[in-house]
Amino acid sequence: MTNLDAYLLLVLLVAVTVGLWAWRRWHPVSFWYGVGFPARVVLVYLTWSNVAAGCGLAHKRRRWRFTLDAVPLAGAAARNTVAVVQHKRRMSRVDVDKAPRLGLPRPTRLGWRVRLRLSDGQVPADYEKAAEGIAHAWRVHSVRVVDVRPGRVTLWATMRDPLTEVTVTPETGDLLKVRPGKLENGQDWIIDFRVVPHWLNAGATQSGKSNLANAIIKALAPQPVAIVGFDLKGGVEFTPYAPRLSALATTRKECCALLDDLVRELEDRMALCRSHGARNVWKLPEPLRPVPIIVLIDEVAELFLMADKSEKDEVVRTGTALLRVAQLGRAFAVHLIVCGQRIGSDLGPGVTALRAQLSGRVCHRVNDPETANMTLGDMDPAALDAARAIPAETPGVCIVAGQDGAWYRARSVYVSEEAAEAAALGCAYLTPAWDTVIGSALTTDPGWPTAA
Ligand SMILES: Nc1ncnc2c1ncn2[C@@H]1O[C@H](COP(=O)(O)OP(=O)(O)OP(=O)(O)O)[C@@H](O)[C@H]1O
Ligand SMILES: [Mg+2]
Repeated sequence: MTNLDAYLLLVLLVAVTVGLWAWRRWHPVSFWYGVGFPARVVLVYLTWSNVAAGCGLAHKRRRWRFTLDAVPLAGAAARNTVAVVQHKRRMSRVDVDKAPRLGLPRPTRLGWRVRLRLSDGQVPADYEKAAEGIAHAWRVHSVRVVDVRPGRVTLWATMRDPLTEVTVTPETGDLLKVRPGKLENGQDWIIDFRVVPHWLNAGATQSGKSNLANAIIKALAPQPVAIVGFDLKGGVEFTPYAPRLSALATTRKECCALLDDLVRELEDRMALCRSHGARNVWKLPEPLRPVPIIVLIDEVAELFLMADKSEKDEVVRTGTALLRVAQLGRAFAVHLIVCGQRIGSDLGPGVTALRAQLSGRVCHRVNDPETANMTLGDMDPAALDAARAIPAETPGVCIVAGQDGAWYRARSVYVSEEAAEAAALGCAYLTPAWDTVIGSALTTDPGWPTAA
């Protein structure tokens, strides 16, 4: 090779490197599909046997292989020398590691999905246990088991956390359906109160509970619903949204009165449904259907704390009324969103029963494993581990579980107090007066709202 050839080769290499760098820098998406993903696929295939063996997913099979066996020497050589063996190549049956069969990886925006065939005796939980090891071996942010079919699992590898930045698709305006953020798999996080009527929103301080409440208020504000707030932090959290709240309780006395109103309203709705032979308000003719009520409770522990024995009766009354609202609300369009740092039996006798009624669970970052256990209940242990692994630097990240038992990592979209306040103010004309709500006079028929 002449000097000129070497020089040209060097220039070519530099040009290719700079070109690839620029491609990646200016158009990362096409770079990923064109270069990054194919390179990863090759690497995954080449290393899969080792990775599977290292993560305990390979199983032993007996196979015919050429082996280099040691054969004892016979005769004079064996007596006269220290070398008593010689190596001989021959076919024999030996144990070999056999990795589960890997399907064709398919690219996603942030990584890839690959389907695997389970080896005999394996269950999807084996892959959930091995997921962290596989993520380290593949040098990716995380690996999750996302789709389980008989005899098959799909692994989803992500290069970076998809929840670092969250933007949401605009609301569709469906009644009682809100999209407060994104799920880890890139889909919208949908809270549909008609499917999961009550939600528990738990987490340590500064973990993003109020932000989620803001996102829900902002999304519900343009809908034909009545929103009521319980804010025993002296009203500091919900007072800015007062224009869109039909009622706001900031003291224990007000809470008791508001809960009594709600229980009475539920009894009225029950009587209305009974008289029309309807099992729930959604079976009523539209002109008669009462307006749905969303009850937001911030820092639920405050409702149950008592400074001295004189408050005991009020606390017991509050707990019982709240439990009744939770039990009856499902059928009669009264929905609860209960926020708190902890919601366990240490708060009072009725709390465990209340928690059991809150079938939607959102667990933000927690400081202790018990809170995660309390919130997510006896879910898949992987969900509890994921909740405990949420870092403080990503407020709003949470584990979401619906009543079907499936769980997701999710993040609420950032909604500043000002944005939620502006939404509340902008939709203030939709706020039904509390007296009309509890009088069952207000319905969701197309003419709503007539009075604001
Ligand atoms: N989804 C999010 N994206 C970005 N930042 C967020 C998100 N959620 C919360 N934050 C930030 O974290 C901070 C704390 O959030 P938030 O007030 O909702 O916590 P909290 O759990 O209600 O705390 P506390 O228990 O003290 O009331 C907020 O000031 C906000 O800046
Ligand atoms: Mg808060």
